[in-house]
Amino acid sequence: MYYSYFSTGNVRIDSEHANIDCMIDLCRNKENEWMSTARILISALANHLDSEEKICREDGLNMTPDHLEEHLQLKTRLAHIEKQVGRAQLDKDDFLSTFRDMLFYHISNFDKHLNNG
Ligand SMILES: [Fe+2]
Repeated sequence: MYYSYFSTGNVRIDSEHANIDCMIDLCRNKENEWMSTARILISALANHLDSEEKICREDGLNMTPDHLEEHLQLKTRLAHIEKQVGRAQLDKDDFLSTFRDMLFYHISNFDKHLNNG
């Protein structure tokens, strides 16, 4: 479990991250039909980025312009990865490690620095 290290201090954001992390494990446990779960995972992360921006507005957290820009870049990357999955250019393990790295990198370098300032 990564929860303590990856905690942002905001319960709503942390629970969305935890849900996505659980879906990664779900996808890992699928065999032939993993691609449909991968698509759900990709849209879950894209939707989460919008949700996180809304939570920050509602909870008074300071989301920097760099953080917002990073969300746009992540969405572009996710769309690219979705195409690669559809064309069978990524196998399941490569998809999962790329996806997980993206999520953990983002939490470590951006979401953990969200504050009330
Ligand atoms: Fe974020």
